Amino acid sequence: MELKRETKRRTEWSVIVSEKAKSTVNPIRMVVETLKLEPNPEKPLIPLSIGDPTIFGNLKPCEEITNAIIASTQSYKNNGYFAAAGSEEARQAVALYSSVDGAPVEAKDVILTSGCSHALDLCMTVLTNPGSNILVPRPGFSLYETLSALIDVQIRHYELLPHKNWEIDLNDLDSKIDGNTAAIIYNNPSNPCGSVFSRQHIIDFLAVAQKHFVPIIADEIYEDLVFPGNHFYPIASLTSEIPVLSCGGTTKKFLIPGWRMGWILIHDKHSRFGNQVF
Ligand SMILES: Cc1ncc(COP(=O)(O)O)c(C=O)c1O
Repeated sequence: MELKRETKRRTEWSVIVSEKAKSTVNPIRMVVETLKLEPNPEKPLIPLSIGDPTIFGNLKPCEEITNAIIASTQSYKNNGYFAAAGSEEARQAVALYSSVDGAPVEAKDVILTSGCSHALDLCMTVLTNPGSNILVPRPGFSLYETLSALIDVQIRHYELLPHKNWEIDLNDLDSKIDGNTAAIIYNNPSNPCGSVFSRQHIIDFLAVAQKHFVPIIADEIYEDLVFPGNHFYPIASLTSEIPVLSCGGTTKKFLIPGWRMGWILIHDKHSRFGNQVF
């Protein structure tokens, strides 16, 4: 017997907005894009806006970058479709740029994305199922929570310690991990704290991830942007055991956020991700 499901036909417009769309909020964009301020003439304005290094026009990208884009578009050779992960040449260039002692990168380990936001989106999506949880820093970049709503993943915060230069509270982190923890999101240098982790602190953090066998999604978009006296250590260069997806791009360091050029570097010396992740 054929079962026919009767649905009432619509008689007027009533477009449904998904529950996911309704629960997806980007608090930074909500504030910044609707901000209308009457400056107080008595006081100088201190702009505390988003991390866009081009806003004041005093920091310009170097000529090599702009010339390369002009040459590329004028060559008419790069206007077609590329492989989903990016052209071999571009992946090779990122691999060459990103390889460091202890964390070599080959073109096959590079996935090109639309900005670091897209890199984070892909990493969170590929490592989670509904019911998984992901650990994120507090204070932290709000996009992690925005993205989690789309994939039905529980966000758990681990605390950063203001009196210790915003280092990670490793005991707190340790206590929040369980068998459903799909990944720890780690952000260094940090937005919004401006902190840069020492080599030792990164090693101590890695020990917690290792104890629980949890992979790391490293948001390293601010790589090398450190105050004098600090040094940026790519986290993957300090572990050979823990699989790391490092998210980065040209946004901040190369002063071109609008170009939306990001990447994922897959560091997985023991193939713990298998061949299913990317
Ligand atoms: C910590 C952090 N991660 C990721 C991003 C997103 O970078 P993109 O503009 O390349 O998507 C930002 C942008 O401000 C950021 O501050």
